[in-house]
Amino acid sequence: MDKKEKFYITTPIYYPSGKWHIGTCYTTIICDAIARFKRLQGYDVFYLTGTDEHGQKILKVAEAAGVPVKDYIDGVVNNLKDLWKLLDISYDKFIRTTDDYHEKAVQKIFTRLYEQGDIYKSSYEGWYCTPCESFWTKTQLVDGKCPDCGREVQLTKEESYFFKMSKYQDRIQKLIEDNKEFLQPATRQNEMLNNFIKPGLQDLCVSRTSFDWGVKVPFDPKHVVYVWIDALTNYITALGYGSDDDSLFKKYWPADIHMVGKEIVRFHSIIWPAILMALDLPLPKKVYGHGWLLFGNDKMSKSKGNIVDPFILCDRYGVDALRYYMLREVSFGQDGSYTNETFLKRINGDLCNDLGNLVSRTVAMVEQYFGGVIPAPKDVEDVDNDLKQTLNAMYKDVQDNMDKLYIPEALESIWRAIARTNKYIDETTPWALNKDEAKKGRLATVMYNLCESIRMIAIILQPFLTKSPELIFEKLGIKDACLKSFESLAFGAKIDGNKVNKGINLFNRLDLNKELAEMDKIAEEQKKQAKAEQKKKMEENVVTIPEIGIEEFEKVQLKVGKVLECQKVEKADKLLCSKIDCGEAEPRTIVSGIAKYYTPEEMVGKSVIVVTNLKPVKLRGILSQGMVLCASDEEGKLSLVAPIAEMKPGSDIR
Ligand code: MSP
Repeated sequence: MDKKEKFYITTPIYYPSGKWHIGTCYTTIICDAIARFKRLQGYDVFYLTGTDEHGQKILKVAEAAGVPVKDYIDGVVNNLKDLWKLLDISYDKFIRTTDDYHEKAVQKIFTRLYEQGDIYKSSYEGWYCTPCESFWTKTQLVDGKCPDCGREVQLTKEESYFFKMSKYQDRIQKLIEDNKEFLQPATRQNEMLNNFIKPGLQDLCVSRTSFDWGVKVPFDPKHVVYVWIDALTNYITALGYGSDDDSLFKKYWPADIHMVGKEIVRFHSIIWPAILMALDLPLPKKVYGHGWLLFGNDKMSKSKGNIVDPFILCDRYGVDALRYYMLREVSFGQDGSYTNETFLKRINGDLCNDLGNLVSRTVAMVEQYFGGVIPAPKDVEDVDNDLKQTLNAMYKDVQDNMDKLYIPEALESIWRAIARTNKYIDETTPWALNKDEAKKGRLATVMYNLCESIRMIAIILQPFLTKSPELIFEKLGIKDACLKSFESLAFGAKIDGNKVNKGINLFNRLDLNKELAEMDKIAEEQKKQAKAEQKKKMEENVVTIPEIGIEEFEKVQLKVGKVLECQKVEKADKLLCSKIDCGEAEPRTIVSGIAKYYTPEEMVGKSVIVVTNLKPVKLRGILSQGMVLCASDEEGKLSLVAPIAEMKPGSDIR
């Protein structure tokens, strides 16, 4: 490369809303490996990450913790920075959306869009999901709940500013249809076209008045900028766009890759390009929507017996083990499941057996056969040429995969070279050569070739693992930075004469069953801790929920009911529809979200408690005339509530 070409890569900015788990490390580790790879290739890389700190969700979490919102966020952000340090994340900048320069730039952007007519004032009525910070139309709801997260939504009406998304409909459609590189993997293109773009882009609500934890709209300060204009613009404000010094922006924009989880592809491939079009700025070259790391069937769960705390995993097994697992295990672009077992197997198999043993055996043999000094090669046989060919081809293979963002495949290419090198030991049997003085020259060649292969493997591992490559260089006595560079990935470097050092093991073999039991214990401990925290929160809540007098309680009419009939509600996994005798002339029709816990057959004949004076509502087109009471634990498990002795339908609950 003559002049250093620039490469700008970003992660999404993280919501600092609680504890971090290994799922949150996924995007960041992937981006880190790409950034490190590009740097070693000679690119001038800018890697951006940060935190998305405004909005109602964060405000509520901080309120629940009883801490002023900024103090709460500072604590969580510091913890995140500690995590990135632990995981050797080589970001060039960490942006916080509460940073002064960002807030000022957002205000400038908002004002400009308003003045040029891309933002206008109106009022909004919609179903709002607080955790997702998204408005939905009634038809978008699934079972009356948020289509993204399945939680309750509230009907909300408020005066708002709107961004004219509709104006950019044609350009956005053309972008996704014509520029196949823009949105990857390709499956996401149809998702966006069919689900959002072709049905027609709606103008986007971009301000809120119901809370004030956000960037104030400068010309109408009872409004705060609603999350996406504030959040998405971080990719340009971090480079100084909208400030006095925009030299970084001029140098690095447009982004080469916005790496995002699949649930925020819509915001990055539709809303963000529209905002950039309105600002008359170039579009990012690529948005890549990766899949999720799942824990069982959930995106994140502490209840499945898996350790999800990255601090604990790194402490026990090392940073390289966690980085390797994240990069290697999940087919990139798709969802993948984390389990303790697959994690430990990767450590024992790929890292300890394949890589660790190759290095330790080789170093031990150089010590034993050549007094610890790497010998110069003396001859060449076919088997040597075959090894050299594999090692010389490795870089191109890895590079091709990295260019296509085939990250696990890039690691597979390296592991093929590791396997070839291990096989070379079996083929050349150095221990047998050592027994024959006449074969000392041959043995020297074999030992040199092994050390040289390992040097090349350590070089190419540097973007992926951050501790082991340096340890390997130390073991091979390699100090010269040139011999650690991508440029030196050609077999035959001058490493003979180097003194090897045994040093510490790269990875220690784990007793799988013992370790799994140990991990279960830790997970159990974590679960207990989470429960204790939950309990504490609930106790605190008891204090904050206002007491009510008996007259208020008596407004609720509760009666014993008997289930006469019950059936599943079509196209609604969670719902059952029951006919319940509440001692009235006609049985009531009641829809309840209990299908996960009870079959229709089980329901028939059961006594239940019914709230009979609840306003009827239509659920999935069925008029539901009351509510069946259930107990619910902190994991959301439900159990019907019933009188202990058999009671006549219609009996009062007092
Ligand atoms: N704040 C928004 C992004 C705004 S970007 C302008 C947000 N934050 S987040 O904290 O919820 O998610 C940050 C990233 O972490 C997303 O890419 C998300 O997909 C990723 N992950 C969070 N949990 C994850 C898994 N369990 N698995 C893989 N990635 C996951 O969205």
